[in-house]
Amino acid sequence: MFSDLTAPAPDPLLGLMQTFRDDPSADKVDLGIGIYKDEHGNAPVLATVKQAENWLVETQGSKGYLSSAGNVDYNRLTRELILGQDKGLLARSQAIQTPGGTGALRIAGDFARRLNPGCRVFLPDPTWANHQALLTAAGLEVVRYPYYDIATATLQFDQTLEALRATRPGDLVLFHGCCHNPAGADPDPEQWAAIAEVLAQTGATPFIDLAYLGFGDGLDKDAQGIRILAARLPEMLIASSYSKNFALYRERVGALTLLAKDDVAAARAHGHLLPVVRTNYSMPPDHGAAVVAHILGDATLRAAWEADVAGMRGRINGMRAKLVAALDGRTTRDFGFLGKQRGMFALLGITPADAERLRTEHHVHITSSGRVNVAGLTDGNVGHVANAIAAVCG
Ligand code: LMR
Repeated sequence: MFSDLTAPAPDPLLGLMQTFRDDPSADKVDLGIGIYKDEHGNAPVLATVKQAENWLVETQGSKGYLSSAGNVDYNRLTRELILGQDKGLLARSQAIQTPGGTGALRIAGDFARRLNPGCRVFLPDPTWANHQALLTAAGLEVVRYPYYDIATATLQFDQTLEALRATRPGDLVLFHGCCHNPAGADPDPEQWAAIAEVLAQTGATPFIDLAYLGFGDGLDKDAQGIRILAARLPEMLIASSYSKNFALYRERVGALTLLAKDDVAAARAHGHLLPVVRTNYSMPPDHGAAVVAHILGDATLRAAWEADVAGMRGRINGMRAKLVAALDGRTTRDFGFLGKQRGMFALLGITPADAERLRTEHHVHITSSGRVNVAGLTDGNVGHVANAIAAVCG
């Protein structure tokens, strides 16, 4: 069964972790995989998470099964965090806890295909490297729509709307809720409203990937696009992750939230989601979600976590400004756009060969698509990174 297998290609993102570990240089800088690093270049466990974990160990009286939907408090708190306190929206929403945002994307894909075997999913170009493979594996037909022009570092908004006019009922249209990965550029509120109008006309369903809530302009502001869509459209799917904003990466803490036309339809749709989970992994792992639920449900811990998120956001935006300043006047390309964009990622607009030179000649590790993880920059390495980019870009 296995003897004829050839060596597989490494995952375009996960493979970078090993390449970085294998680089013996003392000057190496990891701007590859999307992990938030502090000013010392570490990805520590948040103090609020440590506190909640200690609480969990002391108070947890049973590890008996919960359900395919996971932790009930976690699911409610997640819906409230994303949708806000609008009672009408909350009433027509339901959520299930999933193993990470990736698990939520896959469950959403499987669910959509069950409901509509001919389901198409529209993906922005560019998008997260795993979207296409993941949703193809779920049996969906993938269609790409123009989203962002790398050369000019701007949204291709007119082309986006034009492409979305070709959607139809039963199609999913994937958007990044905020802090687009890899582009770092999101629609503004008027553009979200225009997207909502087009989807209201075509009947397609927005499918949101929300992995960086709080890393752009704030927890509520980053959810604004989703709330604009939710106010206008009857249905939506939201795959969200706490990997980044709770630094819980390896614990796999995500959720799939659905919005339906009313509470009855939402409850029914939720019921149809559960067999998708049951026939996949039966139920999600408990630990990370129990920790998040405890923090979000406790006023003191929640305030401390919100301050942590504000700190991470401030550091990312600060490093964007420092990289722009360090590159200013040193290359033929104007990198000022990096300072205006949001989230962990940015596209340098360089060739795969130049990305390779950054690694081999300067030990700066980025993806071959030219994506940098801005959250991997520190005061100690930003000068070296700017020198490397200037040397490669000319
Ligand atoms: C990334 O894009 O680097 C992150 O979302 C991590 C991952 O799982 O790919």
